[in-house]
Amino acid sequence: MTASIGRVVVLLGAPGAGKGTQAQILSEKLGLAHVATGDLFRAAVRDETSLGVTAKGYMDRGELVPDAVTIEMLLERLAKPDAEKGILLDGFPRNTAQAEVLDKALADKGGRVDVAPYIEVPEADLVARLGGRWICRAAGHPYHEQTKPSITPGICDVDGSELYQRTDDQPATVQARLRQQLGALDLVVDFYRTKGVLKAVDGRRGIDLVTGDLLAALAPANG
Ligand code: AP5
Ligand code: MG
Repeated sequence: MTASIGRVVVLLGAPGAGKGTQAQILSEKLGLAHVATGDLFRAAVRDETSLGVTAKGYMDRGELVPDAVTIEMLLERLAKPDAEKGILLDGFPRNTAQAEVLDKALADKGGRVDVAPYIEVPEADLVARLGGRWICRAAGHPYHEQTKPSITPGICDVDGSELYQRTDDQPATVQARLRQQLGALDLVVDFYRTKGVLKAVDGRRGIDLVTGDLLAALAPANG
């Protein structure tokens, strides 16, 4: 870990709830480092590192990657200098064991989870969102065939890179992800509710409206 750590925001939501979409906007607006464990795993898979080889099977089956591997990767990421300005976590923690390790790691540096916004979306909507999602190769900017198409089909508006569909967005894997992961998410939501830092936001609204609600939840008076 870095010598100190700034504000820590944990963005919670089911697969497809809009974590990545909102995390990219919020981290820029608030000057926080965007730390997404899914993106870190996908980079490792692409680069064929030993971490990527380990993670790939779990990701393809829609399962969580084992805690030991995930936590080590996360702690290495938090040790980078940009964490000092504060972090916005997207996709971590995914279970209470990860939440407890995070609390301890932050406490060791005098930090804590300041606020945990939860983007709530019904399960039927999640399936439609993931089925129509395209993301860019360069930076993972997310698009959707119906709700957020790119200006030029197949090309990222932001950086001009090619758009592709994640292998874990195939219907059978989407079902597996929801089946395997929603129970653990509920427990993480309860964990942060008990700590008094949970802020639920209606994720069924349009992207801009959800951003506005999240910014309100993240206003300094709210943690
Ligand atoms: P990860 O990459 O974190 O995937 P996920 O949690 O399943 O979430 P997604 O990235 O699919 O969805 P999102 O919430 O980011 O939604 P998005 O903004 O893209 O993890 C992948 C895998 O890695 C896991 O399955 C696991 O194997 C492993 N892993 C990762 N972290 C781990 C951990 N901590 N422990 C263990 N294993 C881990 O939006 C989705 C779509 O909806 C887009 O098309 C978007 O344009 C659209 N959309 C967004 N908002 C709206 C809106 N308001 N209205 C309409 N459409 C919208
Ligand atoms: Mg994401």
